[in-house]
Amino acid sequence: MKSIFQPAKLFEIRRPKVPSTLVLGGTGRTGHRVVRSLWDSGHKVRIGSRQAEPAFDWEKPETWRRCLEGMTQVYVNFAPDLAMPKARQSITEFTDLAYRMGIQKLVLLSGRGEEEALACEQIIRFSGMDWTIVRSAWFNQNFSEGAFRSMVQEGEIALPTGGTREPFVDVHDVVDVIIAALTEEGHEGKTYETTGPRLLGLEDIAEELSSALGRTITFADIPHDVFLEGIEDMGMPAELVRLMDYLFATVMDGRNEKIGYGVQEALGRPPRDFRDYASMTSLTGVWTPKRALNLVTA
Ligand SMILES: NC(=O)c1ccc[n+]([C@@H]2O[C@H](COP(=O)([O-])OP(=O)(O)OC[C@H]3O[C@@H](n4cnc5c(N)ncnc54)[C@H](OP(=O)(O)O)[C@@H]3O)[C@@H](O)[C@H]2O)c1
Repeated sequence: MKSIFQPAKLFEIRRPKVPSTLVLGGTGRTGHRVVRSLWDSGHKVRIGSRQAEPAFDWEKPETWRRCLEGMTQVYVNFAPDLAMPKARQSITEFTDLAYRMGIQKLVLLSGRGEEEALACEQIIRFSGMDWTIVRSAWFNQNFSEGAFRSMVQEGEIALPTGGTREPFVDVHDVVDVIIAALTEEGHEGKTYETTGPRLLGLEDIAEELSSALGRTITFADIPHDVFLEGIEDMGMPAELVRLMDYLFATVMDGRNEKIGYGVQEALGRPPRDFRDYASMTSLTGVWTPKRALNLVTA
């Protein structure tokens, strides 16, 4: 007769099913928020970044194994962008290693309308692990935590959009979807197109920012080559200048002028509007003009 006392089984039943997550880009815009949210809810988290210990560097595959050890799932955030030609090989090699090391789930942050990103998504889909893809529109936070912040500070957004509109999305919504995929069942095998609730031209963005800040922010739709010269003169590395060239010349050609419903599908609620982002962010002081800051610190 079988004993009813089966210690191993009892242990298995009682063992908490808390996953251990490696958060790549764990110091970046989405990553640091993913880390904080997982940490606050009692999950085991490891930050994947060149500054972390152990360090993770996409350029140094020999750093990957140590970061994956003891982990069960990974938030895959490729730097600087999946559109880079080198991304495909890195994602292939990384997913192979993750599979061999027993990782069970991957959640990939991807970009919309980028052929190279689509190729990386396919690698994740056929990796042999559970997967969720969060394919995101451009972030609102590019204007406060990224390349365009200084333009808002200076009062003029000068970008070569040719009038194309984009459904800018709040990073908090993207992160909520990533967290759902990492912590809940039912998101496996799903591709979520996360966008904001409306298409916005840069002149709309300037208007929203002006109204939130109570001062005028203008928009200048500058020629593409003038933009490239400007960022080169500012000292942007050649690799990133090529990325900007690709993003503004190819991806911003109108192909992404449509709303996605990933936030509703994953979370059952609508995405936040740019207006709410602008008014909340205006209170933080990140858009205070540099000359005003100089006066304060002089
Ligand atoms: N910005 C947008 O509008 C947008 C829209 C859709 C999708 N995306 C995608 O979002 C991703 C970027 O995510 P994010 O905005 O959350 O990050 P982010 O704020 O751009 O920060 C980049 C992160 O990657 C890390 N990193 C940089 N170089 C690295 C390297 N060689 N090896 C390992 N880690 C490295 C950085 O940490 P350390 O410097 O500490 O290493 C940092 O944590 C890109 O794949 C992009 O395609 C962005």
